[in-house]
Amino acid sequence: MLPAPSDLAMLGGAPAVPRGLPAPRWPMVTDADEAAVLNVLRGGALTSVGRGDNEVARLEREWAAYCAVGHAVATSNGTTALALALAALGVGPGDEVVVPALSFVASALAPTHVGAVPVFADIDPEHYLVDPAAVRAAVTPRTAAIMPVHLHGLPADMAELTAVAGGHGLAVVEDAAQAHGARYRDTPVGGLGDLGVFSLNASKNLPTCGEGGLITTDQPELGRRALLLRQFGEDLSTDERVYVSATAGFNAKLSAVQAAFTRSQLARFEATAAGRERAVRRFLDRLGALPGLVPPRALADRTHAWHLLRFRIDPAAAGLDVPAPRLRAALQRALRAEGVPVGPYQVAPLPAQPLFADGGGWRPAFPPVPVLDPAATPVAARTIEETFVLQKVHLDPGNDGLLDRYATAAEKVWEHLTVLAEYADRMDYRPPWARPAGRRVRPVAEGAR
Ligand SMILES: Cc1ncc(COP(=O)(O)O)c(C=O)c1O
Repeated sequence: MLPAPSDLAMLGGAPAVPRGLPAPRWPMVTDADEAAVLNVLRGGALTSVGRGDNEVARLEREWAAYCAVGHAVATSNGTTALALALAALGVGPGDEVVVPALSFVASALAPTHVGAVPVFADIDPEHYLVDPAAVRAAVTPRTAAIMPVHLHGLPADMAELTAVAGGHGLAVVEDAAQAHGARYRDTPVGGLGDLGVFSLNASKNLPTCGEGGLITTDQPELGRRALLLRQFGEDLSTDERVYVSATAGFNAKLSAVQAAFTRSQLARFEATAAGRERAVRRFLDRLGALPGLVPPRALADRTHAWHLLRFRIDPAAAGLDVPAPRLRAALQRALRAEGVPVGPYQVAPLPAQPLFADGGGWRPAFPPVPVLDPAATPVAARTIEETFVLQKVHLDPGNDGLLDRYATAAEKVWEHLTVLAEYADRMDYRPPWARPAGRRVRPVAEGAR
């Protein structure tokens, strides 16, 4: 029970964001996108295999140019793109790949798909990016590659990470699935490691109308190998397809319909990103004024693609003596009741995912079995407990009015901060990864990952 009456929606007051507003949509689908897709359907060149130019090859050229690299290879999704990138490098059974402890699970699955073992490195508590010192400590004689993730759209510390890789002769695969268009020291992500990987999933900043991915590289041999691996191991550069497989390839092709949709999105990508930048910054300025709420920020030497907005709760900065995880849980509940769809993004550090932690669906093909101890990555665990995330709504700059409503709702919640702190102290608290058995983790927005 709360000690004071309140107009908070979680206590029966009217929500700050009225119910029944039209659900925000992403991607934005324009007439031009529809025409691009129809054009492919009517033209009949539906795959990436046909002779001559096609939509997939055009997308690859345009994305390579955008990332200022020599080669791009389009794939069926970002997860296969990561596996292909590792396979192109020759990473396989017996190898280890260093992966951040906080990321989408695909970053850790990709090594397993090529028979390698993911080894987890902790993150930094401020920007949630993999900590180069932790990566250095995770390197063993079996390490073949490191996979920095440009999490939430902010590039990882690539100068430090490539120095670690260079010192040990390791390859670098950038997981840029969330960071299209972000730049590190003026270089676009995707051109900072040996290979870069992007997701074109419909939830991403550069989406397709479904699933897709892109690999980038400046090294011709890696580009050639990625192409072979996408296409059953076949070399399609000859005049006629001869159906000869040179390597154990995948079928990881992107369809021409998906490529055409993404090309159409790419034509206005910069304008959309600039509008998002303005809307997000205005939103973050308002939220950053609330004591104890720490918004994400870009860094002087890199830009932020603002794919996800992660907020940290710092009770001490608000003059409150209550554990941050509890206050985060109480604030999340209050904000959601007001109509602000914040929630966890990743309910557990990757090494605590059942597939790794409980002897679930995966066993490394080759010993030794790595130590997968979530306690070894405490910053990732603490981050999940002390933060919440806003997803997707802010991707469309046309939703700036909705963001204003969210900011007003947060200001209302903050007026009740001391009451909520007392509530937090007494509430039944469980960390996000300790949900009652069988209860589904609710996504924060329809279709959210
Ligand atoms: C960091 C990260 N890596 C990899 C992926 C995998 O991409 P896809 O969903 O296209 O397979 C995602 C997608 O959510 C991601 O966020």
